[in-house]
Amino acid sequence: MTSVDIRQQFLDFFKNKQHQIVPSAPIVIKNDPTLLFTNAGMNQFKDLFLGNGKPVHNRIADTQKCLRVSGKHNDLEEVGVDTYHHTMFEMLGNWSFGDYFKVEAIAWSWELLTEVYKLDKDRLYVTIFEGDEKEGLPKDTEAFDEWKKVISEDRILLGNKKDNFWEMGDTGPCGPCTEIHVDCRPDAERKLVEGKTLVNNDHPQVIEIWNNVFMQFNRLKDGSLQPLPAQHVDTGMGFERLVRVIQQKTSNYDTDVFTGTIAVIEKITGKQYDFSDTKQAIAFRVLADHIRAIAFTIADGQLPSNTGAGYVIRRILRRAVRYYYSYLGYNQPLLFQLMPILAKQFENVFPELNSQLDFVSKVVKEEEEGFLRTIEKGLDKFYRYFSTINKHIISNIPSKSELFSIEIPTTGILTKENYPEIFNQLVNLGNTEEFINQKISTAKKIYLIKGEMAFELYDTYGFPLDLTLLIARENGISVDEVGFEIALQQQKSRSRAAAVVDTEDWINLQENSVSKFIGYNNLDGVTSVVKYRKVKAKGKEGYQIVLAETPFYAESGGQVGDKGTLNFDGEHIIVNDTKKENNLTIHFTEVLPENIEGTVVAKVYTHLREATSIHHSATHLLHAALRQVLGTHVAQKGSLVNEEQLRFDFSHFAKVTDEEIAEIESIVNEKIRENVPVIINEMNKEDALKLGAMALFGEKYGDVVRVVVMDKNYSVELCGGTHVGYTGQLGFFKIKHETAVAAGVRRIEAVSGSVAEALAKEESNTLSSLRSTLKNPKDIVKALENLFTENSELRKKIEGFEAKQLNITRKELLQKVETINGIQFIGTQIEVSNGDALKKLCIDLKADIKDFVVVLTANVEGKAFVAIAIDETINASKGLDAQKIIKEQVAPLIKGGGGGQKLLATAGGQDASNLGLVVEKVKNILTFDFQ
Ligand code: ALA
Repeated sequence: MTSVDIRQQFLDFFKNKQHQIVPSAPIVIKNDPTLLFTNAGMNQFKDLFLGNGKPVHNRIADTQKCLRVSGKHNDLEEVGVDTYHHTMFEMLGNWSFGDYFKVEAIAWSWELLTEVYKLDKDRLYVTIFEGDEKEGLPKDTEAFDEWKKVISEDRILLGNKKDNFWEMGDTGPCGPCTEIHVDCRPDAERKLVEGKTLVNNDHPQVIEIWNNVFMQFNRLKDGSLQPLPAQHVDTGMGFERLVRVIQQKTSNYDTDVFTGTIAVIEKITGKQYDFSDTKQAIAFRVLADHIRAIAFTIADGQLPSNTGAGYVIRRILRRAVRYYYSYLGYNQPLLFQLMPILAKQFENVFPELNSQLDFVSKVVKEEEEGFLRTIEKGLDKFYRYFSTINKHIISNIPSKSELFSIEIPTTGILTKENYPEIFNQLVNLGNTEEFINQKISTAKKIYLIKGEMAFELYDTYGFPLDLTLLIARENGISVDEVGFEIALQQQKSRSRAAAVVDTEDWINLQENSVSKFIGYNNLDGVTSVVKYRKVKAKGKEGYQIVLAETPFYAESGGQVGDKGTLNFDGEHIIVNDTKKENNLTIHFTEVLPENIEGTVVAKVYTHLREATSIHHSATHLLHAALRQVLGTHVAQKGSLVNEEQLRFDFSHFAKVTDEEIAEIESIVNEKIRENVPVIINEMNKEDALKLGAMALFGEKYGDVVRVVVMDKNYSVELCGGTHVGYTGQLGFFKIKHETAVAAGVRRIEAVSGSVAEALAKEESNTLSSLRSTLKNPKDIVKALENLFTENSELRKKIEGFEAKQLNITRKELLQKVETINGIQFIGTQIEVSNGDALKKLCIDLKADIKDFVVVLTANVEGKAFVAIAIDETINASKGLDAQKIIKEQVAPLIKGGGGGQKLLATAGGQDASNLGLVVEKVKNILTFDFQ
């Protein structure tokens, strides 16, 4: 049976049991601050469990794209190392919303596994919740009794809260669960060790495949359990594991879910995959796995970035790059080459990848290129440090140098007994005795990379510790791993402290927690508070309030949340922001009113909302114009709409030219002048698509969408935002900037309405004042061009004068040569117009003297500049090093810094009062140190 058949049979089975089959929700989560990614099939139904919404069907089944790499469920480090954890995986699930419960769920899962998939009953075990006294939860005897009907009692195992009480996160819907495990070991092994002793024991061949959760509670912030309004079923079966069991493989990667991708990797790298735990085999598995997570999250609209969900994707991608770079010996972008096979494989299951194949491939390729460059830079840094160690042997620990070494005595053998002090230092640095013994047999010195440096490589250059260890080992050195761990922990606690958001439990004032949005047509309304809670973020306290009805638009679809006031019987509270959490509209305030229980008049700040709506409608007009001018490949990749401007990110592979910008502006302004009505209708997603609406991937099943039309032949979009009634209200549209944001993604920032008018006014004022500064010429552009030409001619003349002056100075300096201990010394302060002139003089002087040391200083507008040149002969015979003198002697005197080479180095600093001392200091070195 192919994986395609297996998936289809699951869906067909539940379809026959009156389940509605729905598409997977996006893998990237919107509107839920507690989750970045879908981590279980039930996420998209969380509202339904909590009673915040009503289901369209009360039985549903699907296959859901899931990602478990952040938060409560995080498998990232296992992926590839073992053969059955994944970043992205498909979760087959069936749900009952207040409909069937334990009896049917258990009977059907048994029927599907044993009668449809024909799994050997002898290999199946089930677990049920044993109860938990502390939580006041009883043993799940109902589930036990159901299982007893189909499986012998000794195969029903009791499980604790960790394994048999499922929770989505720290808070949210939860309940007891029953799991089904399969023992895939060969018969001989099964005879020796009983399968039930291996259940839930991390055995790679005795694995859980299906979890049936009986949702009964909502876990509150204070840890208590609140019964849900109704009882639900939530199940999740790991598709890749199921396929493996049915196809009788010992690893998920040997099933047809992965073999296609692995074959392509073999072809690209010329390496062979085998089922082992060598780094090479792990690398194959990491790539075959990670590419799925990367591809599907980008296809669902999440670009790699430095924060939030984007950062998680970037980390997964970098983990993959590092594996092929380190273990498959491949140093070119590889992942993007896997995209076509993946898109084809999922063409009919998750079509969003195939339909954006070029775009996703381009984003991935560019990310890979960027990270490969970073790796090269990090390596460069690493080797630069490495090359300095022979010159900086510092035997005391801790040292200031990035790399430090411990010199092992050349006489005698370094053992714990002979040299206890050195031995202990090495142990204190986190080395095992075994490592030290092995090291000292081959090296005279042990070099260790300081933990801070390993951390810098990790933090700045993306080198995970094991990559640093690998390169270090190749170079015969080791890494202070303890120091690395300390630096890592310090950074973690810094970012934890910065990110803490402490949310208290809701205080409910009303039973019904559904909040209704009335703000498309009303900017104020009389209503009441449904619930509220206190939050603390970045040390600041505030409140979140939910109203029974609200005119406030909650941030979504790129449009910012409304601001306004809540009037509680004369007490005005300011709403700073409005956001959505699941189905709730949450109003953010700094304070609570005295009396929160009465009626409240909610009022949105009209001027902000109107300016924002203008920018939202302008965004639609822009989107359509972009597709007309640049082509229909243009698709929205991000948007921000507020009262000040609109920002629109879209897929396009080249810079938008000035001519194209002008054309786009004309089209939009033309549409504004046509004053077409903005017509908005609500319908289901499928009908909207039939109407030709431009849709983003990302709507969930059951979403009723709004279709916004501005001339049905011009712009039809799915959009939940607020808009003007007629395009004429926009007045005028002007693009401010066009820039690149990521590979294949461009950004336009533009303004409309009164903001555009203000911008035009400002630009025209600037032009007026420019004209008057230029003394009102006829042709202002020509006048400026003339100024530039004149300026560059003058600059050339000055450079000529300066060169002549430097030549004179050089001759004067040659008159000032002193001989100190056989060295030709020139040391003086001179007049120059910039610091670079000192360096140039030093270089010019080289031709005229031998065995020299030259120190030139200058005070340029209060800043200190110094250049030191040392003849090669002097460097060789006396060991004088210009860079060292600059760094150690000069830089502190002038309160600055510098660098260069051993024969020529320069410095600059804030304090020019000690320049005389600089010359004296160098002179003293020559006079006294070499007598
Ligand atoms: N929500 C349950 C799980 O993820 C089915 O295991």
